[in-house]
Amino acid sequence: MEFLDVVRRRRTTNGAFLPDPVSEEHQRLLMEVAGRAPSQLNSQPWRFVIVEERPTIEAIARISGESMTEAMSNGTFFERYKPYFRFSKEEMERRRDGMLFDRLPAPLRPFTSQVFTSRGQKLMNAMRVPQNLGEENRKLVAGSPLLLGVMLDRSEYRPGELSSFYSLFSMGAAMENLWLTTVEIGMGIQFVSFPMEVPGRWDEIVGLLKVPDDLELMAVYRLGYLPAEQRRPPIDWTSEHRRLPSQYVFRGTCATPQEGWDQRTNG
Ligand SMILES: Cc1cc2nc3c(=O)[nH]c(=O)nc-3n(C[C@H](O)[C@H](O)[C@H](O)COP(=O)(O)O)c2cc1C
Repeated sequence: MEFLDVVRRRRTTNGAFLPDPVSEEHQRLLMEVAGRAPSQLNSQPWRFVIVEERPTIEAIARISGESMTEAMSNGTFFERYKPYFRFSKEEMERRRDGMLFDRLPAPLRPFTSQVFTSRGQKLMNAMRVPQNLGEENRKLVAGSPLLLGVMLDRSEYRPGELSSFYSLFSMGAAMENLWLTTVEIGMGIQFVSFPMEVPGRWDEIVGLLKVPDDLELMAVYRLGYLPAEQRRPPIDWTSEHRRLPSQYVFRGTCATPQEGWDQRTNG
């Protein structure tokens, strides 16, 4: 595939993968491209743990599903992510970031206007919406042939210090290399981040993966091959909208937005 096509086609997979295991050749390729990323003084602060063992995947899936249920039922999810939700197509078109509320899980749509009120929350809880969504999430994670834990070397990742920023940046570059490569080889990838939302649950994953004290577990992803036809899943978190260049590019100084590029980008 042409490189620019790969970049333009890169997406987050929020549906199911094929059950087929990820070939060793592809596993090695993904690790190779990740390892080719730039890093501060070539420190290569990233570490990866590849997980294909069913009991571990199922245990992490259970933690993920339960965390989602918890974060959605106690209100932390909606409180934390309120700024990212757009409530009309017009607002989405104008701002071009975040997610249209329509794209939120189907079971939540009837409560669109109430979801940020305590009454709405009670209603959703009474209808067991968080349980249903958590179970969907558990199934998606459990049905993945491969999970990938991404860690940083704590001697580089020292929160509060410049090297912490550098190592996060380097990890992002490594992950983008890997993410783009999934497009080339017919694979998909999605963050498994709900366990980070609920105190204590991330530590359970740290324990399951036997992450040593000198490493920090930064992220967990699920990966697999994509089915020929992808159905829109009940939990649909991604958005294809992107800001226009005039909304994120300046010219000369930050006082002057870039003009004249918007049409070509979209055309
Ligand atoms: C730091 C970070 C955290 C993210 N967390 C999640 C997540 O928890 N679940 C998920 O499905 N996608 C997650 N995403 C993916 C974004 O939602 C996604 O990139 C964005 O909506 C644009 O969609 P696209 O990747 O399909 O282009 C995350 C992305 C980043 C960079």
